[in-house]
Amino acid sequence: MKYVLGIESTCDETGIAVVGDGWKILSNVVMTQEDLHARYGGVIPEVACRRHADVLLPLLKRSLHEAGLTLEEIDLIAVAKGPGLIGALLVGVNFARGLALSTRKPLVGVNHIEAHLYSTILDQRPPFPALGVVVSGGHTSLLLAESVGSYQMIGKTQDDAIGEAFDKAARLLGLPYPGGPEIEKLARGGDPKRYPFRAGTLKGRPFDFSFSGLKTALLYRIKGQNAQKTGSITLSDLEKKDLAASFQRAAFADVINKIELAADHFSCNSILIGGGVSQNRAFRAMLAEQVSLPTFWPAPGLCLDNGAMIAALGYHYHREGETTSSFQADPRLGVTHALARSSLDPTRSY
Ligand code: KG4
Ligand code: ZN
Repeated sequence: MKYVLGIESTCDETGIAVVGDGWKILSNVVMTQEDLHARYGGVIPEVACRRHADVLLPLLKRSLHEAGLTLEEIDLIAVAKGPGLIGALLVGVNFARGLALSTRKPLVGVNHIEAHLYSTILDQRPPFPALGVVVSGGHTSLLLAESVGSYQMIGKTQDDAIGEAFDKAARLLGLPYPGGPEIEKLARGGDPKRYPFRAGTLKGRPFDFSFSGLKTALLYRIKGQNAQKTGSITLSDLEKKDLAASFQRAAFADVINKIELAADHFSCNSILIGGGVSQNRAFRAMLAEQVSLPTFWPAPGLCLDNGAMIAALGYHYHREGETTSSFQADPRLGVTHALARSSLDPTRSY
């Protein structure tokens, strides 16, 4: 078995994992910075960088220990090279580069978005073409995947990412960061039809997203028309629940409608859904009710940012001959990507 060390530091989670042959997770250590950013209601890039720098080395030791391996036994180092926060990316990429140089191991830079999608399948192969859906704090993206390793972006958000919209909505409702899980919890006791919220549609761009209007509609419901973002919130518990449920339903209805449209338009045979928002149970239930295509979801430890998805996809990048030495951290890295051979076969040897 070939062992890959995966390093993730694109935003506010530091992750280091060891994965065998692109699918067998031997360790997956993630340290979230939620506590650090909670008081600001969102991620502060400078604060995130410092924390990444502080914890990478201890996490490396823990990850190797949990995997029962030494650094010498690692065959390849993979690091998330983008997209993400530039400072956070630089910390991870430089750490990985230093590690690779000092141990003379090969190094690959992995696309974080593709890794989210890859985390949904690992050792399985979905029927292609597949519709890739990344719903996270930084992204709301629809991709057409012809195979693992060959992706094309077909739609993305024009303003807030869906997770970001959940985080902002939670803040308006007086809930802590990260807001997604809080909204989900609150929404459980609420009426999703009470408030007729809708996410945005963009003329001539049926697969793009817009959530800023939805967030503003929630703001107005909470504080009245022309409201300012500051000021105290006086809502009954039931109103809060109904607002959370209605907001959540509107956001997911929009994503699911666009998934259905895109899957049909591009004749997709399956759907791969990755990113932190894919943890949401209501989302999974709504999608299952509306869409009948086989749908692949990440396992619980793989929804949020983590090193295992980086290591798993890094294994394939390397096996497909991706050259390594010259990549740069790229905060705006796109996802149109084609590996040398686009049809990856998990059974082929390294
Ligand atoms: O994938 P991730 O760790 O970050 C990025 O790569 O951007 O996802 C974090 C995002 C946060 O915005 C968080 O609020 C959201 O995922 N999230 C959720 C849930 N759990 C996490 N959103 C809705 N429902 C959830 N249960
Ligand atoms: Zn992510």
